[in-house]
Amino acid sequence: MKKVRVRLGDKGYDVLIARGLLGQAGKHLRDCGFNGKLVIITNPIVQELYGNALREKLSADGFQVAMLTVADGEEQKSLDVAGRLYTELGDGYAERTTPVLALGGGVIGDLAGFVAATYMRGVPLVQIPTTLLAQVDSSIGGKVAVNHGKLKNEIGAFYQPRLVISDTATLKTLPAKEFANGMAEVVKSAVIKDSEFFAFIENNLGKIKTLDNAALEEIVFRSASIKANVVIQDELDTGLRNILNYGHTIGHAIETVSDFGVEHGHAVAIGMMAAAGIAEKLGCFDKSELIRLKAILEGAGLPAKMPKLDTGKILKAMKHDKKIAGGKVRFVLPKAIGEVFITDEVNLTLVEEVLSG
Ligand code: NAD
Ligand code: GLY
Repeated sequence: MKKVRVRLGDKGYDVLIARGLLGQAGKHLRDCGFNGKLVIITNPIVQELYGNALREKLSADGFQVAMLTVADGEEQKSLDVAGRLYTELGDGYAERTTPVLALGGGVIGDLAGFVAATYMRGVPLVQIPTTLLAQVDSSIGGKVAVNHGKLKNEIGAFYQPRLVISDTATLKTLPAKEFANGMAEVVKSAVIKDSEFFAFIENNLGKIKTLDNAALEEIVFRSASIKANVVIQDELDTGLRNILNYGHTIGHAIETVSDFGVEHGHAVAIGMMAAAGIAEKLGCFDKSELIRLKAILEGAGLPAKMPKLDTGKILKAMKHDKKIAGGKVRFVLPKAIGEVFITDEVNLTLVEEVLSG
């Protein structure tokens, strides 16, 4: 088993990574000090694949387990659904010490995390991520949120989990497009902080794509380590943590303008290429590195080229993005594979030039 410690003082926690960890969840929960009641929050897809077996095993291990389900999909990240979960938690079951186990992808992690952060002013949260994106990114760092109207992820809290259990065996049932979404964040992690990890991905793409377990554990471990390292330096996202948004400024705009027709991971991949293209035009990122980035993204099943979208609308959407600082659009640009910098001094004419190809 691999382990990443998120060193946040008395809010610190472990991220456990291995194949088959769901079967040992009871032991790890007990090691964390939990016994008695537990509440699993999941969706019907994940319940069927893993939730029922997890409940049975935890019951056999002596826990009293309740399972609450919400439908699948981003639209479940809402105050309405959170409200329903509060009611179900309150129906005589959950106490202040009862942990909520968020079993699923980033949607369940964010929603169940938000509920755990707010129900009775906070009950313990355990993240059990089952998508690649959730294992390498959303389960770590304590951002929990719901959407509200046009506010995406903006009603939320920083609420760290007490434990993260990443069972890499769950990735075997993930649809290919969801795996690719997660790969965008894996590549992002390498570009922002670790050139050696980038080379590892380049050299092991075949194994990663055929879901070789050692390769999966390695990419989850290294991405989780990078995220943990950034989070412990800037838990509340006041500066450095922004580098985790590499590829996301343009990526979010592409998602918005395409009316979410472009998948999140695809949009981030295109956003990473565009940001690298801007850096190259500014003379701070080498063309040979740009070629490596394009190759790794395409190798991972992600696009590197802009789809046919109105560039003007993308620029407009970027200006509305929440990362806008003092009227300026903030970019994370690479200096080299493994090193990025944050700037709000990019001329939007240059952005337009790069986006127009
Ligand atoms: P998701 O949670 O919607 O999961 C994708 C799909 O895979 C869903 O249909 C889900 O039911 C299914 N699924 C989950 N596990 C499965 C498995 N093992 N086998 C088969 N199917 C499975 O999407 P996601 O990409 O995991 O997460 C996206 C969400 O994460 C967004 O809401 C985004 O805002 C959020 N996010 C949060 C953070 C953060 O720091 N909190 C960071 C990045 C993204
Ligand atoms: N996914 C961005 C962050 O956690 O800050």
